[in-house]
Amino acid sequence: MSLEIIILAAGKGTRMHSTTPKVLHPLGGKALLAHVLDTAVALQPTAIHVIYGHGGEALPLAFSGLHYAPDVNWVEQAEQLGTGHALSLALPAVDPAAEVLVLYGDVPLVGPETLAPLVETSQRGELGVLTAEVDNPTGYGRVVVDDCGNIRAIIEHKDATSAEQAITEINTGFMAAPAACFVRWLQQLTQNNAQGEYYLTDVAALASAEGLTVAATRAEIAGDVLGVNSRGDLAILERRYQQLQAEELMRAGVTLQDPKRFDLRGVLTAGRDCTIDINVIIEGEVILGDRVQVGPNSVLKNCRVGEDSTIEANCLIDEAVIAAKCQVGPFARLRPGTCLEEGSRVGNFVETKKTTLGQGSKANHLAYLGDAQVGRNVNIGAGVITCNYDGANKHLTVIGDNAFIGSDSQLVAPVVVGTDATIGAGSTISKDAPEGKLTFSRGRQTTVKGWKRPKKKR
Ligand code: UD1
Ligand code: CA
Repeated sequence: MSLEIIILAAGKGTRMHSTTPKVLHPLGGKALLAHVLDTAVALQPTAIHVIYGHGGEALPLAFSGLHYAPDVNWVEQAEQLGTGHALSLALPAVDPAAEVLVLYGDVPLVGPETLAPLVETSQRGELGVLTAEVDNPTGYGRVVVDDCGNIRAIIEHKDATSAEQAITEINTGFMAAPAACFVRWLQQLTQNNAQGEYYLTDVAALASAEGLTVAATRAEIAGDVLGVNSRGDLAILERRYQQLQAEELMRAGVTLQDPKRFDLRGVLTAGRDCTIDINVIIEGEVILGDRVQVGPNSVLKNCRVGEDSTIEANCLIDEAVIAAKCQVGPFARLRPGTCLEEGSRVGNFVETKKTTLGQGSKANHLAYLGDAQVGRNVNIGAGVITCNYDGANKHLTVIGDNAFIGSDSQLVAPVVVGTDATIGAGSTISKDAPEGKLTFSRGRQTTVKGWKRPKKKR
């Protein structure tokens, strides 16, 4: 039996007060719709259809570079006449023998395991609806059940009598049925309701009238079926999502000093016994080796950190590769193309970019290393700067093994400092410095005899 998934995502999202289509707002660094698409893909359907409308081509465009299996069939709903109308636009492209599962683009946390029972219901030729028991059902469609617990109808909040409004079992909007059934039911929808829309939810009463079972699958955790209508909802779901990710990481053996103050906007792979202090943000794809420690307030983006390395407080690390036993920070900024080899150290107020720091080398204080190849066991003094930019082009600085660069020196690239070379403090090095020698450039120090400090005239 084949499964096709239809994701409804054409809504305006009026309450977001945004020019960005609602389903493009990020949750954990990823668009709401991307979460739903991932769930859809996990169910291995034969086709995925997304109904879009508000925001126009922005939606398909945002996903154009991404590949899903199967490909997404984008269906435009130019006028938003209701959820039933939205679904009817996708059905012509659906195999009439398939099962159809309807998802909402603005409900990101429902996982494939919650949806599997709906698909099974559909495979029995019935209509399955995902419901939830909530404390405050305001705004949701209410689920009216018969004595056997089967659904007789779904009544929208605005159409409900006060008795119906008292029902706390709500329609999540997720449902599944054979495609042929949906085709038949949608033809019968009308706009005779409080909102003048074609309600998808009316299929429940239609199925029930045909004598079909409309089975309710109740979501175990009501919080996971919440949708995003406002930025407040988005913030609540973000915390919920972060909590779920934090719990998973802790189960896998990562110590989070405070799971409430940890944000993962991507994928974190961590070895054994890693510790992450508070207010750390992990973005993109980050891999930590065994026993890595990350200090508070650090941001790690698309980087790798080798085993036994420590990131001290307040570091920004972006597209860097850090080998084992390195020490970074506090207050270090490692920019794209930084490569720290084993046992190297980058200290406070040091910025690096497209730079390799060889094994055991150190830049402990106040330095800028850009477009540099630094060998092993090199000491970069405080205040050293690679002058890599001449105003038009970037140039390379090469520093040999065991070199010592005195404090407050400028290395004007392109320039090579030889192996075992020493650069005297305060030098401006614009020509290559030979191996094993002391090179410096600075005015000679003199002391003026008999000099007196001027005094203020009376
Ligand atoms: C809908 C359900 C309600 C349920 C609630 C759960 C209907 C009539 N009501 O109400 O029973 O409790 O969801 O959150 O279905 N959409 C389109 N095209 C349209 C209208 C909507 O694609 O013409 C999409 C929206 O982008 C959204 C989803 O369908 O992803 C739900 O639409 P929304 O307007 O939010 O429905 P609700 O009034 O919340
Ligand atoms: Ca909604």
